[in-house]
Amino acid sequence: MNDKTPASDKAFLNVLHTRKPSSKIPFWFMRQAGRYLPEYRELRARKNGFLDMAMDSKSACEITMQPIRRFGMDAAIIFSDILVIPYALGQSLDFVQGEGPKLGELSISKLGYGGFSKLDPVYEALGNVRTALNAEGFSHTALIGFAGAPWTVATYMIEGGSSRDFLKTKMMAYRDPEGFSALIDMLVEATASYLIKQIRAGAEAVQIFDSWAGALDSEQFNRWAVQPTKRIVDLVRADYPHVPIIGFPKGAGQNYLSYVQNTGVSALGLDSQVPVKWAAQSLQPLAPVQGNLDPVCLLAGGDAMILAAERIVETLKGGPFIFNLGHGIHKDTPVEHVEALVRFIRDNG
Ligand code: CP3
Repeated sequence: MNDKTPASDKAFLNVLHTRKPSSKIPFWFMRQAGRYLPEYRELRARKNGFLDMAMDSKSACEITMQPIRRFGMDAAIIFSDILVIPYALGQSLDFVQGEGPKLGELSISKLGYGGFSKLDPVYEALGNVRTALNAEGFSHTALIGFAGAPWTVATYMIEGGSSRDFLKTKMMAYRDPEGFSALIDMLVEATASYLIKQIRAGAEAVQIFDSWAGALDSEQFNRWAVQPTKRIVDLVRADYPHVPIIGFPKGAGQNYLSYVQNTGVSALGLDSQVPVKWAAQSLQPLAPVQGNLDPVCLLAGGDAMILAAERIVETLKGGPFIFNLGHGIHKDTPVEHVEALVRFIRDNG
């Protein structure tokens, strides 16, 4: 189903496949399914927390569809999380409301693939979403699968949750590069296999989130962000040579250039700090770009939001471009702000 380059009526896929500007700029938003939507909060109140919803294929499908029904984005992203990989490998995981993720003590020697079937509901949900998109008249909407990059997932596994400075992780990478490599290698293999299975189940493109790539100096960036991502890209391409892979090395700064040159990703997700003029000159000739409105600008709304969106569109529309935010939607974002932004992109994109 996904092994050929489709002459697609889906604008999102066309930009990625043709690497040319689209007559109509496709858009979607990171974290477009989630707490800013009243229908998400309503469903969440009836369930036993985030993991319970993400691992229930019916709920995951329903939540994935919620923003599409409101806004008709050009891409849906499957409702899940990057931390399901440590969970499947055997590290305990809990999402504590208001506190973020909590992972149990890491014991690398105890991790393994025995529990990988825990991820089966994700594949089932992907199939359900493809069916729902067609059945509900969203045949222009593509479906994105995703995973965290090994470096970013490793920070959560080692720190036990979110972190500001990634001290433990960086210390391990400097002091025990061999031990750290063993963890990264396992994550490379697990992540590639997870993405391949998502594609088999119906994902038409995949995104690799390296949310904390910006914590690494250039040399460590190459070793722990670029090289592992390249290995994942090569493994996925061996099975699915034509499925676009979007890389999002958040905070990478000028290292975005070496990232796109050396990982082989098909497209780049830009964070809000990337200057769009530089992206148009230096990155877009190498790969389609996606981004990069500051999510706080969407939270603020009004003229500032429209002006910022206009500047991004004007600067990047001459090349292959997908409109998005530079990071996930903030949970307090008014739905009306999202409506206004969508109207702007539809009218001006
Ligand atoms: O974009 C989407 O709509 C798809 C769903 C999605 C989620 N997480 C759902 C989620 C995606 C793509 C992610 C990726 C993810 N998860 C990343 C990479 C992107 C980024 O934001 O940098 C990271 C670092 C995580 C880890 C994670 N998951 C954290 C730190 C948290 C807690 C903080 C928070 O925002 O609540 C989560 C929980 C999480 N993942 C929620 C959602 C909707 C909130 C769960 C809830 O309380 O309802």
